[in-house]
Amino acid sequence: MVLDTDAFPPASRLPSNPDLPDPLETLAGEPVSTPAEWRARRSELEALFRYYVYGYAPGPEPIAADVDRTESVLDGKATLLEATIRFVDLPDDAPTIELALFVPTDVNEVPVFLGLNREGNHAVVDDDAVTITDRGRRFGTDECGTQRKYWCVERILERGYGFATYHCADIDPDRDDFTDGIHPYYDTDDLPGPPGTEWGTLAAWAWGLQRCVDYLRTESVVRSDEIAVVGHSRRGKAALLAGATDERIGLVVPHQSGTGGCALSRDNDQESVARINGTFPHWFNDVFPAFGSRESRLPVDQHLLVALVAPRPLLDTEGSRDYWANPGRAYDALQAAAPVYDLLGAEGLVGTGRLSDGDELTAETADTLCQYRRETGHTLNRGYWDVILEFADLHFSRRD
Ligand code: GCU
Repeated sequence: MVLDTDAFPPASRLPSNPDLPDPLETLAGEPVSTPAEWRARRSELEALFRYYVYGYAPGPEPIAADVDRTESVLDGKATLLEATIRFVDLPDDAPTIELALFVPTDVNEVPVFLGLNREGNHAVVDDDAVTITDRGRRFGTDECGTQRKYWCVERILERGYGFATYHCADIDPDRDDFTDGIHPYYDTDDLPGPPGTEWGTLAAWAWGLQRCVDYLRTESVVRSDEIAVVGHSRRGKAALLAGATDERIGLVVPHQSGTGGCALSRDNDQESVARINGTFPHWFNDVFPAFGSRESRLPVDQHLLVALVAPRPLLDTEGSRDYWANPGRAYDALQAAAPVYDLLGAEGLVGTGRLSDGDELTAETADTLCQYRRETGHTLNRGYWDVILEFADLHFSRRD
């Protein structure tokens, strides 16, 4: 979208509105009552999120992928495809994304979960077939399988899904100097917005996920319209942003994503906008901090990011003891996004739209938008994966 900077005043000149901005009303106050009008509102919202919160990322940089194939990994249960995704128009020393794609042995085509990992691809499974990259070692761990119980890759494969993952440090190692990732390869002039609105770490990770989608859609074993993105916590924020701004992504699981993810910024008594920008100044753009203690001036709030996913399925998995991520304000965001699902003909919330441990996830209890809480703190584990897989089963066609 072409940026109309006049329409986007600084935080100090935005009206204070303690209520959540209406998803179905434009910035200029026009009602949005048809799917066609929603398309225009969608573009406006994307621009608002870029301008005020996450920052503008570059367009889809052309890629080329060199793929190594290893048969019979994970005790014969999977084939491993390791793709080095290169950005062909960037200088040779630009970072590459090292994507590991596991697919169940002997399948023709599968839906795939694409997860952003924290410690390196070799950490997600206990199998030394997975390459330990320099960045994986430097910004992650030396050991294989440290996050095995967190990603549950074998379970995902058993259930007939593929699993793809990249280490977030390939794109940005989550430091606030922006010297050792993708950022130095783009100048302010290469990005669509004015100075101060350049991409932060979350936008860069999301962009990386989208480049992985570019590659995955060229792999014949991947069902290209059944790619789900998943991330936990800060990586859940990035997964949500990726899903919200890329309609090729078929399903979104922002797990315990908190502030800057599913949890609303307004009336958030856990991690406030001031707090998150104070501790992680590099996650967002340079405009967002102006809304610290002034959340009511935000022309967007996180329910609108959820709404950008509509009509595609979104499962918000939360831990009832994960107070900092504020599951309550995430649930409020889902509720406030539901009218967009309804407008687009996808039933958003069924019943309360909120399930918890022991509740069965079926078409009768959950539709396209759902929060599922488990009795945990801040973690990802097998119990969550069982729920996530059930949800994906509901929405993706049957598998091989
Ligand atoms: C911190 C941060 C959260 C973030 C979390 C994580 O707690 O305040 O916003 O989600 O780290 O990534 O684990």
